[in-house]
Amino acid sequence: MTPDFLYGTAWKENRTAALTELAIRTGFRGIDTANQRRHYVEAGVGEGLKAAYRAGVVSREELFLQTKFTYQAGQDHRLPYDPEAALSAQVAQSVKSSLEHLGTDYIDSYVLHGPASGRGWTDYDAEVWAAMARERDAGRVRLLGVSNVSLRHLEDLATSGAEMPAFVQNRCFARTGWDHSVRAFCARQQIRYQGFSLLTANPEVLHHPLVADIAARSHATPAQVVFRFALAVRMLPLTGTTDAEHMRQDLVSPAVTLSSDEARAIESLA
Ligand SMILES: NC(=O)c1ccc[n+]([C@@H]2O[C@H](COP(=O)([O-])OP(=O)(O)OC[C@H]3O[C@@H](n4cnc5c(N)ncnc54)[C@H](OP(=O)(O)O)[C@@H]3O)[C@@H](O)[C@H]2O)c1
Repeated sequence: MTPDFLYGTAWKENRTAALTELAIRTGFRGIDTANQRRHYVEAGVGEGLKAAYRAGVVSREELFLQTKFTYQAGQDHRLPYDPEAALSAQVAQSVKSSLEHLGTDYIDSYVLHGPASGRGWTDYDAEVWAAMARERDAGRVRLLGVSNVSLRHLEDLATSGAEMPAFVQNRCFARTGWDHSVRAFCARQQIRYQGFSLLTANPEVLHHPLVADIAARSHATPAQVVFRFALAVRMLPLTGTTDAEHMRQDLVSPAVTLSSDEARAIESLA
């Protein structure tokens, strides 16, 4: 089952293991990472998981582990595959390396980190997507996703006749109606939308009087109101907080009271 919140492990470098373990101890059951050493230490996530298992906090089956395939253009020199290999072989090598890093024999959700071109779904993406589906068919991956996509990418993918993703993971700006057109497409296609940078992309929302009033009334923080709003519009939010108190606050944000009128008002803040 997909949890209501994902803990993001980007940009944590040598704190990755300890913060992953802390997130699990605090109650997160969904972990997002990537086999992209430039921004993530996937092996550190694996160390954090191992520590949590060893301490009896959680078992593998209780967790939802999500990781990603990243094209060479999004990587630095620390590649999880042979850059000379065909893209489909790079996917297989990247999955194998992720399974080793995470100490598991399956990945709950495997995400294409971003399409090859900003202009539409290309033949490169089609090759990678087919290779990802083969990993799923072989049982090493359960669900597939795409990240950093536009409506055009999704429409191209649908037109190509390929299977649609279970997840879309995008940076979510309030000024685009919180990625309204992509979210609407996802709703129509029964794709679960994952939103990241909900706080960092939207400082104006965190300071908006509407959000401040709801926060004050609910004895909550503006960040909790934003996460509660995200859940109200059926997003699966990500948080990458490094702060134990913020972890706790994020996990209890579903308890913040938010009426449907208030959710609609936040949705149309831009
Ligand atoms: N697919 C992609 O291309 C992509 C790109 C970027 C990110 N992601 C994923 O999304 C995850 C989250 O990244 P993000 O861009 O949303 O930023 P983030 O890493 O979650 O940063 C959130 C910022 O807000 C602060 N903050 C303040 N109050 C908070 C609260 N109550 N709860 C949470 N944070 C609070 C945090 O500071 P404190 O640490 O002090 O709390 C932090 O500086 C990443 O770790 C990664 O897994 C994916």
